[in-house]
This record gives sequence, structure tokens and C-alpha cells, in this order.
Amino acid sequence: MKIGAEADIIACEEKYILKRRIRKKYRVLMLDEHIRKMRTKKEAMLLKVCKSHKIPVPDVSIEDEYTLKIEFIEGENLDNYIKVRSKKKVKSILDRCAFFVAQMHQNNIVHGDLTTSNIIVAIKNKKEVPYFIDFGFGNKSHRDEDKAMDIHNFIKSFDATFPALKECPRLFKEKYAVYLDSKEAFRIQNRLEKIEARGRYLKKNTSG
Ligand SMILES: Nc1ncnc2c1ncn2[C@@H]1O[C@H](COP(=O)(O)OP(=O)(O)O)[C@@H](O)[C@H]1O
Ligand SMILES: [Mg+2]
Repeated sequence: MKIGAEADIIACEEKYILKRRIRKKYRVLMLDEHIRKMRTKKEAMLLKVCKSHKIPVPDVSIEDEYTLKIEFIEGENLDNYIKVRSKKKVKSILDRCAFFVAQMHQNNIVHGDLTTSNIIVAIKNKKEVPYFIDFGFGNKSHRDEDKAMDIHNFIKSFDATFPALKECPRLFKEKYAVYLDSKEAFRIQNRLEKIEARGRYLKKNTSG
């Protein structure tokens, strides 16, 4: 199993993993402890809130202030999944992702690090289901900007890994807007366009 950037998966049993946030030496000790405790608590809270809204996430319990015991999801990270699947399959799983991200946002849950490596594709009742993990940077938020940033980050991570599949992120965005309440979709799309324009401006003015 991949060891992520932020935390260590320190045990991997058949049914669960232990995710412990380890000390970052470059941070002052007190601040480091505060950040690790906060992210651990937040991740557990957001996983539970998602579960209560029937968004596919693993079960979780708090082992200690730096460690979560998380249900092991048997499957493939979305980035690995996409690499070896047909375009039709990719579009179909992105449609499911769009549906559940819209559910999150409608319930004011912001993921905070929505990338293709923080989604695990599992088979449930013969159907492929995207499970969302790694909520340590997430928040309860009703702000359009925070929600639009989730979509922006997801598309950025998708484009960076799969530049040849241009129409897929477009499809994701369209589906997401369809699954949201129409007024909210309109506001978030506007916000997203501003974020994208900001990105283009920065790129143009910092390159060369
Ligand atoms: N509940 C889980 N079930 C199966 N694999 C997991 C689970 N949680 C994490 N992983 C695997 O470990 C990797 C790192 O975990 P993650 O929670 O994303 O931590 P990090 O903050 O280090 O990125 C994931 O990309 C995934 O491959
Ligand atoms: Mg991760």
C-alpha cells in the first residue's frame, strides 16, 4: 500500500487500517501536535457526517488523538482504475463521483483534498462505487468558494494525470451541476469560472 504524504498507514489488517498522523519535524512541536489532533478529529467527524448522508465512505473510530481506525475498502485508487479502463467505464465512474460530490456539497461538507488518489473504486452489489477517503483537510462549510475549490482541485488532479482525457473532467463538471440544486449550481459554476480565470492569469504572468 502507498504511504501518503500527510500520514502513515501503520497497519493494514483484513478489515481495517490504522491511519496515524506522524510528527513533522519542520513544524514547532506545539503547533504540530495541534494540527495533527485537529486533522484527526476532523477526518473522523467528516467521515461520520458523510456516512449519515449515505455518501460512500469507510466506517471510522478514533483509536487515539493521532490515530484513526478506518474500515479497509477493498478496491483500486481512482487514478489506477482510470489508467486501465475504457473511456466508457471512466465516464461512468466520474458520473458517480459527480453525484456524491454534489451530495457532499449540498450537505455543506467540503472534502478539501479532492484528487483521484483520494477516491477508491470498490465493487458493491456488482456495481462500481467511488469511496471517498482522506478528509483531514476538509470542513463543514456552506461557502461557494470552498465547494468550487473542491471541483477545481479534482479537475486539476485529473488533467495533470490524464491530459489525453480532456472531455472527462468537462463531463464531471456538467454532471455535478446537474445533480446539485440549480441555484447553488449556478453560483458554484460562476465561482469556478473565476478560480479558473485566476489560474490562467497567474500562469500567463508567471511563465517565461
Ligand atoms: N480505508 C482505506 N481502505 C483502503 N485503502 C486505503 C484506505 N485509506 C487509505 N488507503 C490507501 O492509503 C493511501 C493513503 O491514505 P490517505 O488517507 O489518502 O492518506 P494521506 O493523507 O497520507 O494521503 C490511499 O491513497 C489509499 O491507497
Ligand atoms: Mg491521500
